Amino acid sequence: MESVQDANPDEPGVSVRALTRRKVLRGVGAGALGVAVAGTGALSYRAYDTKALGGDGGAAYEAWRQWRDDEGPRGVVAAAVLAASPHNTQPWTFHLDGDRIEVHADPARQMRNVDPFGRELRIGLGCAVENMVLAARARGFDPRVALQPDPAQPLLAARIELPAGPRNVSALYEAIGHRHSNRGPYQDKPVLPGVLADLAALAEDPVPAVSWITARADRDALGTLMIDAAQAVVDDEEQSRDGFAWFRSSAGAIDAHRDGLTLDGQGLNPLMTVVAKLLPASSRQSGDAFWLDQTRTVHTRTAAAYGLVLVPDPRDPVRQLQGGRLLQRIHLAVTARGLALQHMNQITERIDRDVSQGRDPVLASRLAAFVREPGVQVLSAFRIGHPERQARLSPRRLPSEVLR
Ligand SMILES: Cc1cc2nc3c(=O)[nH]c(=O)nc-3n(C[C@H](O)[C@H](O)[C@H](O)COP(=O)(O)O)c2cc1C
Repeated sequence: MESVQDANPDEPGVSVRALTRRKVLRGVGAGALGVAVAGTGALSYRAYDTKALGGDGGAAYEAWRQWRDDEGPRGVVAAAVLAASPHNTQPWTFHLDGDRIEVHADPARQMRNVDPFGRELRIGLGCAVENMVLAARARGFDPRVALQPDPAQPLLAARIELPAGPRNVSALYEAIGHRHSNRGPYQDKPVLPGVLADLAALAEDPVPAVSWITARADRDALGTLMIDAAQAVVDDEEQSRDGFAWFRSSAGAIDAHRDGLTLDGQGLNPLMTVVAKLLPASSRQSGDAFWLDQTRTVHTRTAAAYGLVLVPDPRDPVRQLQGGRLLQRIHLAVTARGLALQHMNQITERIDRDVSQGRDPVLASRLAAFVREPGVQVLSAFRIGHPERQARLSPRRLPSEVLR
């Protein structure tokens, strides 16, 4: 679940409250909007406050510009921070000791109601580990990875030794700075079976594995399940508030936190992105409604295929980290091919939430119906396709902020 929400709906100085972002996003014409708000001081304040006319250039995006600069182990961390993470929580710290780097979970960044068991947190850490392995090879190291190496330290997700090795600047490494979550519409065009087979073959071991949902009827059924799960998340106030806390609605909030979700990341077309930024921030409820609407009309309707990452036990921390590595590898390969990908995890978020509350996980059997392979369950889900528009950068904390 990831939605457009706003942590600061009562911004002072904004007097055009009757127009909410959601109303515009749902169809108010840009021309009418211009007439309504042109020339107001509030509008120019809002334009300044949200960097309406361009969001990718500020300090919060510096990590995307300098990730190749350092040739040593710090450069490996510079690649790590560009990885995907749930709600862009960046739930990591890195401990550098000579030619060894430890990756630690930051429990303060776990979304307790959306991700009660830390499944997504550790998938995100796995994504970071994958970037680190590729960046280490590109710097002439031969990385040796141990996942959850110390039972006495559950927050120590990975220890990576960096002995010297052959230099390998791979296509996946090159894609690290171009990979972004694409939440916009995808073209009505299939991803060819050979491409899906190549992507699935990126799994180095029998598990975790990826299975593809491509048939129209299956995609429709899984899409319906995604929509039902999104509705259940929205109806669960604690889950909704968990997401709300990570939405950054102003340039000031983005610069201050350098994490979380932004309007730029929602896959709207450039005009609507500017318009949405100019309007007063929407409430949590409006943001939820926008996300539900996007899930119905864009995310599920334009998915060319869904991918399901399958593991024997989705609660196993090592499997979660391995699944994250595979997801990141697939996302990088998708990027290198000019395709688009969006993680979509509202179904497993509802299942984990129900289990954590001692309830029957009502969506579990519907999700299990999409798994044909014996002895495995869904760890995580995503959609892929041919993008209609390019995705934009999301903010990042710099390596210096996460190195200990
Ligand atoms: C474990 C995990 C779960 C995620 N779940 C979702 C999701 O349900 N919906 C979504 O739109 N994005 C999801 N994302 C994508 C993140 O929001 C995204 O990686 C983050 O905001 C950083 O943006 P970037 O991928 O463009 O760098 C997920 C990412 C991870 C690693």
